[in-house]
Amino acid sequence: MTNLAIFASGAGSNAEKIIEYFKGNATVRVALVVCNKPTAGVLKIAEKHEIKTILIEKEGFFSQNSCIEALKAHQIDFIVLAGFLWKVPDALVNAYRGKIVNIHPALLPKYGGKGMYGMRVHEAVISAGETESGITIHHVNEHYDEGNIIFQAKCSLEPGDTPEMLAQKVHALEHRYFPKVIADLVESKPQG
Ligand code: GAR
Repeated sequence: MTNLAIFASGAGSNAEKIIEYFKGNATVRVALVVCNKPTAGVLKIAEKHEIKTILIEKEGFFSQNSCIEALKAHQIDFIVLAGFLWKVPDALVNAYRGKIVNIHPALLPKYGGKGMYGMRVHEAVISAGETESGITIHHVNEHYDEGNIIFQAKCSLEPGDTPEMLAQKVHALEHRYFPKVIADLVESKPQG
């Protein structure tokens, strides 16, 4: 059995799609949801699907590597960042090298990096007058949004589209592709 941990900070719509996708799977299961925000919707989603949760706080996560111990204790093999807004510390990248993936709501390498998350990304894409955006699924390394790109999908942007409209298009792509890309990666025993 391959045990996945999903890290999320927000509503958790991607987390829910991934949980549903692997429900009943004989070889892969979502074993843990890790969250840094007590009010995040993803905690309710985990509860609804009877997935264990860990609420992390800054000191333990960034200075004491307590998360790594918890992940090992839960026998986690693979980490999925689904709207997780803290940077992954180097020690965690090292402990799970090649086994951490992130989804970014734009076509990297554009519109990535520190401070680029959620609606901020969509606002930047629209302000720049882009005619398309999309999603990027990539490996996580020590730098924000710079790991190897695994998968991208595009959507078109029409004149007059608002950041909210773009967010909806991007979420639709994320929900459609992210679980399947994770399944392919886990089955092919990912390398860095
Ligand atoms: C997703 O669109 C994801 O790509 C984005 O946060 C959203 C979370 O939505 N992630 C980032 O911006 C990371 N830089 P969700 O909580 O409904 O899954």
